Amino acid sequence: MGPSSRTEPRLAAAATSKEKGTFSKMSPLPPQDEIEDRNVIDLGCGYGRTLIPMLSFNPNIAVGVDLSLKMLLLFQGIMKDKKLNFENVFLIRRNIASLPFRDNSFDTAYSAAVMFHLDKKWVRQAVREIRRILKPGGVVYFFSSFSNLVSWNGIQGLLTGFVGRTVHYKFSITRMKYYTFNEVRNFFRDFHEVKIIPTGYQLLPKDVLTKPTPMFRNKIQMFNAEIAGKLKKLPYHSFATHFDVVARS
Ligand SMILES: C[S@@+](CC[C@H](N)C(=O)[O-])C[C@H]1O[C@@H](n2cnc3c(N)ncnc32)[C@H](O)[C@@H]1O
Repeated sequence: MGPSSRTEPRLAAAATSKEKGTFSKMSPLPPQDEIEDRNVIDLGCGYGRTLIPMLSFNPNIAVGVDLSLKMLLLFQGIMKDKKLNFENVFLIRRNIASLPFRDNSFDTAYSAAVMFHLDKKWVRQAVREIRRILKPGGVVYFFSSFSNLVSWNGIQGLLTGFVGRTVHYKFSITRMKYYTFNEVRNFFRDFHEVKIIPTGYQLLPKDVLTKPTPMFRNKIQMFNAEIAGKLKKLPYHSFATHFDVVARS
């Protein structure tokens, strides 16, 4: 699947019908000193779940890029509802694999929950674009972006994707993309100080953690949380659901 407006309804839906317009589920943000007085860009910004909170850190300019017009209109609506009138905020409808900015334009780039929608060639192209638009020494943060292939969720995702695709073509459009640690490292080989951070440790596959009745679910999740701390200390990352990345240009 290549990113295009044809895919917009699916992408918009992916940005979450339940939490639409709310900020209840927050991803980590960059530290304030990577935003204050900096040129900041949020790639696949959706309705502003992460970029709007970043505005309180006083960036020099803040740019949100998203392929979905629907998401950008929601973003604008939320800004209006909250009576935010930032003259230094720019929203641009664009594919993040082809960014309309000059080389060395931004200090800080950020992206949450976007890359797992994209085919790998688009991810490679998007990361190349980010490297190009970042100033030397600029930093990029990727959160909840690279789902771990070699994990319970990866195996479960591949299997359901495979079974689903043999049942109906639409499953091949909606499936998540999964990555190995080495693939992620390869995407960022032109960056410096690359940190690939295994995140979201869990002992059991997601369906086992979320599907049972509430009573069992709570017990299983408590057990999982207890074990997760221990799993983090293991020398391999098969129990991490995904990799976060922080890298310098
Ligand atoms: C799951 S949402 C995440 C939105 C936001 N980053 C957040 O964390 O709330 C994924 C977003 O990525 C956007 N998106 C997906 N592929 C894209 C692409 N190739 N270029 C620009 N935006 C894209 C979708 O339109 C959607 O708004």
